[in-house]
This record gives sequence, C-alpha cells and structure tokens, in this order.
Amino acid sequence: MDDKRFPKEGKTRLLDYRIADNRLRITRILNVEAESPTVKTFAFKDKHCARAKPGQFLMLWIPGVDEIPLSILGAERDGTIAVAVKEVGSATKALHGMKAGERIGVRGPFGNWFTKKQGKILMVGGGTGMVPLLFLAGNLTGEAAKLIVVLGAKTEGELLFIDELRQICSGGNLVATTEDGSYGIKCLATTPVETLMNKERFDMIYACGPEQMIRKVFNLAEKHATSMEASLERLMRCAMGLCGSCVIGKYRVCRDGPVFATERLREVKAEFGVSKRDFDGRRISL
Ligand SMILES: Cc1cc2nc3c(=O)[nH]c(=O)nc-3n(C[C@H](O)[C@H](O)[C@H](O)COP(=O)(O)OP(=O)(O)OC[C@H]3O[C@@H](n4cnc5c(N)ncnc54)[C@H](O)[C@@H]3O)c2cc1C
Ligand code: FES
Repeated sequence: MDDKRFPKEGKTRLLDYRIADNRLRITRILNVEAESPTVKTFAFKDKHCARAKPGQFLMLWIPGVDEIPLSILGAERDGTIAVAVKEVGSATKALHGMKAGERIGVRGPFGNWFTKKQGKILMVGGGTGMVPLLFLAGNLTGEAAKLIVVLGAKTEGELLFIDELRQICSGGNLVATTEDGSYGIKCLATTPVETLMNKERFDMIYACGPEQMIRKVFNLAEKHATSMEASLERLMRCAMGLCGSCVIGKYRVCRDGPVFATERLREVKAEFGVSKRDFDGRRISL
C-alpha cells in the first residue's frame, strides 16, 4: 500500500511509525455524547490516530474488560479523535458506562482507507456503518460533483448523524430509510439504492454497515458495472495480521482491509455477506 499517511523519510522511519502505532497508549475520555438510544460518541486525544484517514480503525482498550476494533469517526488537528459506539455486548456496555476523565487505551490507526474519488458519488450506510462514511463525506465536500447519501436504520432514533449529513448533502441528496417507517422511506437502505442506480450512473459507491446490506449493494454495483469500496467487519484480536481471527477468503480484514474494492470483493464472494469466523475460528452464518 502506498502509505501517504507517513512523511517520506525512508523505510526505517515508516517501520518506526508502525511499531509506535501498535503500542498501547493510555489516554482519558474528554467527552461523551448520546447519538441514539444505543450509540454514544466518545472523544479523546491521541496523536497517532490524529493522522488517520477515513476508513481506518483503532483498537480501544476498556480496562479490565476487552479491547475492541472501532472505526474512526473524525480526527482533529489538535489530536482529538472521536469514535461512535453501539452497545452490543460486554465491552461496549462497559464503555457506555464510562464518563469524561476515565482512562482508556488506544492502539492504531490500523488498516487501509477509502480512496477519494471525484464525480458522482453514492454513499450507503447502515447503522454504525455510517461512522467511517461520515468521516469520508466530510473529506469529499467540495470535491465530489454530486454526493448522494442513503442512510438506513431500524427506527428513527437509530438514524445516525442525520443533522451532520444534512449539512454535507445539499438539496434532496440525503435519503433516509427506516425498517419501521418511523422516518423517511419505510424500506431497507438497498431499495432506494436500486432506484437511484437504475436512474443515474455513479462514478463510485462507498458502503459500510450490515454485511448482507453491503452484499446487495455490491450485486447492484456489478449489475451496473460501477466501482465500489466497502468497509467490512470481522472479529479482531491483534489488528496486525497475526492471529487470523478476521480472515475472509485469502485476506485478513485488519491488514488487507477493512476497505475492500470491487476486485477484492469479487475474490471473497463465497464468504462476503454469507459467513464469518467466531471467536473459536469456526465458520458461522451471518
Ligand atoms: C474494523 C471494524 C470497525 C468497527 N467499527 C465500529 C464502530 O465504528 N462502531 C461500533 O459500534 N462498532 C464497530 N465495530 C464492531 C465492534 O468492534 C463490536 O461491536 C465490538 O467489538 C463488540 O464488543 P462487545 O464485547 O460489546 O460485544 P460481544 O459480547 O463480544 O459481541 C456482541 C456482538 O458483536 C459482535 N462482535 C463482537 N466482537 C466483535 C469484533 N471484534 N468485531 C466485530 N463484531 C464483533 C459479535 O459477533 C456479537 O454479535 C467495528 C468492528 C470492526 C472489525
Ligand atoms: S485481527 Fe488478528 S489477523 Fe486480523
């Protein structure tokens, strides 16, 4: 990978950065905001992750509980980082119980990132899949000729970052869907994606969210011969390509992803949107 995050100071310097990125840094939570009934945003300082690009992730250590992978929501020049976390199990529940001033650990940034494309862009985010896409959308403002965002969730309360996206997407270029019809169109996010793709040609589709949703978007992108980049999630322990828990096809999502472009998505079609590995390495259906 062409590592544009790093100053061009030779291979040794690059390796130094990578080793330092992987070392656990202890920092304190600066701020906690509720985004929805199940999602909270946490801000903290970390100068390594401040270099992160949209699509990259970090490993967040919750003392005494676990270390979990999280997409980076935003990185400020002063080193402030934000992540948005949905409460799903033990680690995320413990994190949701934490307040400003409490200590957490950070490793990263890890993985590759979305490539910035110009022209007509379609973004599809489901649930917390909107986290890396919001970071990317902020970076594309002023560059994309047209940016349409399709945002999907089960209910109105779970639609994330709708105010921020309204500011980024002008006119009717933000399409919200809910499964219960409490806001926007009552359908899955893939329904307006199909309508939009039947109507106009996009230069790039970016997607993140439930993998079955991404797979449907991929099938549509293939049908319309449109390029796509998707951020995938797998169980992760090391985040360095060593343990194999994040494997998909011949790739490791932590090292070769999490962003997969069309060619690689084709290569992992047998597993993509179909199955993943559990904590014991067994293949389980998605
Ligand atoms: C690259 C990447 C980026 C992610 N970004 C975000 C994000 O921005 N916001 C967010 O809320 N979540 C994100 N996740 C998912 C997040 O890591 C898991 O929800 C978290 O690890 C669950 O931990 P837990 O102990 O609370 O739940 P557990 O009790 O471990 O499990 C609860 C559920 O979450 C799933 N899960 C558990 N661990 C992981 C894991 N390491 N990776 C993926 N799924 C897991 C399990 O299959 C189970 O269904 C991301 C995952 C990856 C791989
Ligand atoms: S998390 Fe260990 S190889 Fe990817």
